[in-house]
Amino acid sequence: MCGIIGYVGTRDASPILIESLKKLEYRGYDSSGIGLLDHQSHLIVRKSKGKIKNLEELLRARPLPFSNIGISHTRWATHGLPCDENAHPHTDSAHHIAVVHNGIIENYAELREKLKKQGCRFLSQTDTEVIAHLISVLYKGDLKLAVQKAMARLKGAFAIGVISKDHPDMLIAARVGSPLIIGLGDKENYIASDVPAILDRTRRVIYLKDGQMAVLSKGRVEVFTFDGKKVRLKVDTVSFTVGSAQKEGYDHFMLKEIHEQPAVIAAMLKTCLPAGRAAHQSGKLKLEGLTISDKALASIKKITVVACGTAYHAGLVGKYVLEALARLSVEVDTSSEFRYRNAIIDKHTLMVAVSQSGETADTLAAVREARAKGAKVISICNVIGSSLTRESDGVLYTHAGPEIGVASTKAYTAQLMMFYLLSLKLAQVRHSVPVRQQRKLIKDLQSIPKLYREVLKTKTTIVKIAQANSHFGCFLYLGRNINYPTALEGALKLKEISYIPAEGYAAGEMKHGPIALIDEYRAVICIAVRSHVYEKMISNIQEIRARKGNVIVVATRGDRQIAPHADYVIEVPFVDELLSPLLTVIPLQLIAYYIAVKRGNDVDQPRNLAKSVTVE
Ligand code: F6R
Repeated sequence: MCGIIGYVGTRDASPILIESLKKLEYRGYDSSGIGLLDHQSHLIVRKSKGKIKNLEELLRARPLPFSNIGISHTRWATHGLPCDENAHPHTDSAHHIAVVHNGIIENYAELREKLKKQGCRFLSQTDTEVIAHLISVLYKGDLKLAVQKAMARLKGAFAIGVISKDHPDMLIAARVGSPLIIGLGDKENYIASDVPAILDRTRRVIYLKDGQMAVLSKGRVEVFTFDGKKVRLKVDTVSFTVGSAQKEGYDHFMLKEIHEQPAVIAAMLKTCLPAGRAAHQSGKLKLEGLTISDKALASIKKITVVACGTAYHAGLVGKYVLEALARLSVEVDTSSEFRYRNAIIDKHTLMVAVSQSGETADTLAAVREARAKGAKVISICNVIGSSLTRESDGVLYTHAGPEIGVASTKAYTAQLMMFYLLSLKLAQVRHSVPVRQQRKLIKDLQSIPKLYREVLKTKTTIVKIAQANSHFGCFLYLGRNINYPTALEGALKLKEISYIPAEGYAAGEMKHGPIALIDEYRAVICIAVRSHVYEKMISNIQEIRARKGNVIVVATRGDRQIAPHADYVIEVPFVDELLSPLLTVIPLQLIAYYIAVKRGNDVDQPRNLAKSVTVE
């Protein structure tokens, strides 16, 4: 994972590097660091464990000199503990060359042993340090050639930035697998892990491709293949803007983002649903970015959804919706499993790749695998211009705005909504749903933002329930049918921010094992809204009560039958059961949030996590 920024130009590098680095903190916050060349070409490195604010404190205590060239890094630890020594940049033994790195060097152990025998002294446990030493032993006065030779010896996925005290106007970048872009400025140039990190400095970018390296000075950028051939530069002008996110009075970004959901969904519906009388009559959806013809969509035989984490749970809900409306067979897989299982897909398969960040390494690999086999890929993505959007045939943007809280909330419900819209679109081209039913569905979807506001109004009750249950050491989440993925998502939210062990289960599976967990020390959250599996859920709840489990039920407003079976009831308004996951997840997000707050955790940046998982 990790984020990289590099600068070469005429201005003071360190404030530019630190400000841009903060925009990459979503990629990891275990440690951060900066490396510069001062005017006497001394290589100066400062690094600090923890978030970038710790590095800023260090720089206030030990300010950096003026410099025109530097690299910086924010880390998510892969090899070695999150500590000062393992923070990047890493240098060679002579302290001449500094390297920042995003990715994993798979053959680092073998290289390390060889380099040690050649006299290199290692100061960290990272895989990255081998890159600095390797470049150093290969260096014979030509830094570009040394990096080029080093690339041939590295295995894995990586993006790197390199500076050397012997080349005070040269910044070198290279990539395989991990993203890296070059930003072109006026008498200054940048490297960065993503576009938004440098968007307030330049809009002219070069997307470095796998197997390419770049040599940057303040007035020039050249790109080469790893065998030294010069590549013609393709400069893109980025047109999108990135909203900056503030907490706006909320205690945490996560809470703010939970409250943004009605507005996010309302905006999506406004853009995609038919407006005006004529459009309303035709009922035709506008899914901008779909870019696959109706004819091609109608000929699809199968859909494969790939995603990770919360986005995977959105994909699981998507399966129920696509199958119900488009009447197509849908399989859903985590990207990390899909990419290694030689899945049976061909040109009649539509892949839907779901990702908030668009930078998840496994999802990108799954997409490449599917396209190589001839499938068309549509991505459902939030971050404009991200790697995933550039590698897909069509992109459905969720436009949820920047999601800063590491635990995904508004991106999830936006992904869900996009699945409803995509399913409806497929239903239209495949004529699988009668027009009257389509109109009813559109009307029901339009009511969702209002219903969200109603759920959010019950927050006081949810806070009390969360506080009363925050002491439990284990939670079980149960749901059936289309709310089974909601149970998985509720458990994931709780785990990641409260650190309480939590399991999501299909309620029908409870008797096949998890029921052994139930006693008076467990809390069980059951999703039992009105649906064709409601009675089955009630039976499951009774089984838990019979074993003294503490039961919190998410139920349909006005359901009088449920109270005797539950310790606590959280009500959500009635909607058609197909749409219910849009509503039932909101109380679960709030429960996780308030339990984490009660436990005093860092809700927006929970331990061990990063917003974007850019290594496999
Ligand atoms: C959970 C969470 C993660 C992400 C997962 C995929 O709250 O945020 O599970 O959903 O890492 O990330 P994206 O959607 O960026 O591909």
